[in-house]
Amino acid sequence: MEEELKKIVEEMQKELTGCEKEADVLNIKSKYVGKKSRISEILSNLKDMSIEEKRKYGSLINNTKKELENIINEFLNQKLNQNNTSFDDTLDYEISMGSLHPVTIVAKEVTDCMKKMGFTVVSGPEMETEYYNFEALNIPKDHPARDMQDTYYLDNGMLLRTQTSGNQIHAMEKYGAPLKVCSPGRVFRNEDLDANHENTFFQVEGMVIDKEISIENLLYVMQQILSEVMQSEINLRLRPGFFPFTEPSYEIDMECSICKGKGCPTCKNSGWIEIVPGGMVHPNVLKAGGIDPEKYTGFAFGIGLTRLAMMKYKISDIRVLNSGDIRYLEQFNIK
Ligand code: DAH
Repeated sequence: MEEELKKIVEEMQKELTGCEKEADVLNIKSKYVGKKSRISEILSNLKDMSIEEKRKYGSLINNTKKELENIINEFLNQKLNQNNTSFDDTLDYEISMGSLHPVTIVAKEVTDCMKKMGFTVVSGPEMETEYYNFEALNIPKDHPARDMQDTYYLDNGMLLRTQTSGNQIHAMEKYGAPLKVCSPGRVFRNEDLDANHENTFFQVEGMVIDKEISIENLLYVMQQILSEVMQSEINLRLRPGFFPFTEPSYEIDMECSICKGKGCPTCKNSGWIEIVPGGMVHPNVLKAGGIDPEKYTGFAFGIGLTRLAMMKYKISDIRVLNSGDIRYLEQFNIK
């Protein structure tokens, strides 16, 4: 018995020599003093020994176990007190390069394209006042449009913005006319979650104010942006829509890039995908921004960035984008 215990200590010491990584030391610890170690086995056999044997070996076995533990702990302490750089417990982990999130990629593509067309990128607060999120956008308190954009109202009287459209007002107040801005950002809604609805998603707002601006200008800008993101020439169509902050308002549909307009499950066999709402800025909105609607006209639009990323990367469930599940996001390992 004495011999065997001595041998265990010697063997462990031999294995520890030259050991550099904390993970390796911990493996040795579990091998020699863990539940399945030889010493634990010997200890559990003690109960079957005779009284004399118990007396003879009991404390010897216990002391050996303590000795093994002390050796390991001392070894670890010594290593930690040495030059930190020689004992790096992260060495055992594989460190791989991260990649950009699909929404970040698409946001960058959209804003890069808009910058090339002379747009200035501006940002605005995620915690917003009712005035900027609704009232100044021609959505008074009792307006039914508020129903479609229920959000989180905060104790301080503010709310989490439901749209990036409030940045139209911030930009007009700050820069006046003429104006050419885009504003990407996170928005929030009180939604029942499913494959197409999230409580947190991303939009990019676009606004141009100048003399003699028409809807033709909006269509040109949209075509440029969508063709750049989808990496192919994109056809658009206009349908009438309704938004309190534009008059007239439109829904801009993009020809389905998957079936090239022939009809497929993604576009529900219509050949078109609803992609951007927009229109000519309502005179009340220009006024709220301090701009004279008699002198200036403008267009505005709001692209659903999350939606665009889903289309570009053929993601069928919106929830994976905020899930933080690296296995899923890794698929878009685009640098
Ligand atoms: N803010 C709108 C939404 O979230 C989208 C939108 C519609 C933005 C029309 C615009 C616009 O700038 O002109 O549903």
